[in-house]
Order: sequence, then C-alpha cells, then structure tokens
Amino acid sequence: MKFTSDLTSPLIIAHRGFRSKYPENTLTAFEAAIDAGAKMIELDVTLSKDREVIVIHDDTLDRTTNGKGPVKKYSLAELKRLDAGSWFDSSFKGEQIPTLGQVLDLIKNRILLNIEIKKSAYESDSPNDAIEKQVAGLVSMAGCLDSVLFSSFEPAILKSIVKIENRSRIALLTEKPLAKKTWEFCKDLTPFSWNPDYRSVTEGRVQEMHGKNIRVFPYTVNSLSDAKRLVEMGVDGFFTDDPALMISLLF
Ligand code: G3P
Ligand code: MG
Repeated sequence: MKFTSDLTSPLIIAHRGFRSKYPENTLTAFEAAIDAGAKMIELDVTLSKDREVIVIHDDTLDRTTNGKGPVKKYSLAELKRLDAGSWFDSSFKGEQIPTLGQVLDLIKNRILLNIEIKKSAYESDSPNDAIEKQVAGLVSMAGCLDSVLFSSFEPAILKSIVKIENRSRIALLTEKPLAKKTWEFCKDLTPFSWNPDYRSVTEGRVQEMHGKNIRVFPYTVNSLSDAKRLVEMGVDGFFTDDPALMISLLF
C-alpha cells in the first residue's frame, strides 16, 4: 500500500503493532496488525550501543524484555539475545527486538508504516550515522519511501529527514496542544499529518489543519466513544492498540 493509493477513512493505525493482544513492537505484533486489516503500523526506533536502528519504545529494557537498564548500553548482538515476548505472555517466549531493516523486509509495502524516531535518540551535532540519516537510508534502500510516514516529538529530526529526502512524508507529533513555536518551526516542512494526543484535539484545530492540507491522526484511541467523537470532528484516522476491535466497530 502507498500513500498515493485511495486511503480509507478513518485510517486505522496499529500502535506498536497489534499491541493489545501481542507483545508491542515485535514482528509478530506487526504481522498480526496486517492480518487484522489495519492500514498503517506505527513503531518506535532508537539506536543500539553499536548504532544499529532497532525497534523498541522505552529507553530502558526493563518493561518489554528480560534485560535491564538503558537500551543504548547494549550492542545489537546483545539485544538480540533478549526475550521480548515473555513479559507479555509465556506463549511469546523467544520473540526478539527487531531491527528496522527486518520490519521493512517483513512488510514489503503490504501496509503503510509510521516510523517514530525517538526524541531521546536525537543528536544535535548530527553525525554521519545519526538515527534520522540511517532511517532515511534504510527506507529508501528498501524502496518504501511512498509507504512511510516519518514522525518524531523532536522537530529537528523532521527537518533533517526532509533535508535528506524532500519527498519524505513527515508527521508533526505533539504531546500537548500544538504550540505556536512548534508550528512555526515545522510549517515550511509541509507536514503530511499532525499526530496529536487525542485529548488535545478540537474540531477547530482539525478544520485549520485541513485548510492547510494536513491530515489529523490522533493517538492512542482505545474506546469506541472516543473514536466516534474524533471521527465526528473529522479526523482522518487514529492510532489504536486494538485495530481488530476498531475495524469491527467502525466499518
Ligand atoms: O506516534 C504516536 C504515539 O506512538 C506517540 O506516543 O509514546 O506511544 O510513542 P508513544
Ligand atoms: Mg510511538
């Protein structure tokens, strides 16, 4: 699937994969999201000690693996030895932390992909192997530019992505109501979407974004009442931990 295809609305985005039923940010959770009929997968990327692009949400290993401490203190080989499935359920024992390359290989343009580059991985001195440079390179090497949306809570990362490849689609990711300063920094990057915390979305803001040809994809929506309220406000899609449930309720 590509962004140039006819996209259904609302676009159901599987947050960290099919996270409510599978261990988040694993190949199994991504495959399950595709099976469930989600239209886009969201994942989080950061760097290992040896600067490989890996897929994990937290800056520490403790919650989602049997490892301990900061992710960045471990090499890819060390991270690959960890179990990223048992914490969720013993039936997922042996699930590994994936690399971004593995995910791109797995999905092969079958579904849209939102790559969230962790703010904590940002380096202001922008080395040659900075995370955003590596991510842009991996996506373009895999031939996936037309099915990827890049996002980050760090606007400088988005600026850098557009500088590397100006056809990149970027999403302005915000935690709080959109600050004027953030908008001023990002507006010239012509964002594809605004991805806000769903609690900060107003109908006026949705209309304002649509007036600028920017889509609105709030995160993370897990109740039918919130989903309906947001759809009535006109959002173009939303992130959810349970894509199967949202598809069964809305379509
Ligand atoms: O990109 C939407 C959402 O994933 C942002 O928050 O903390 O789940 O990465 P978080
Ligand atoms: Mg995320």
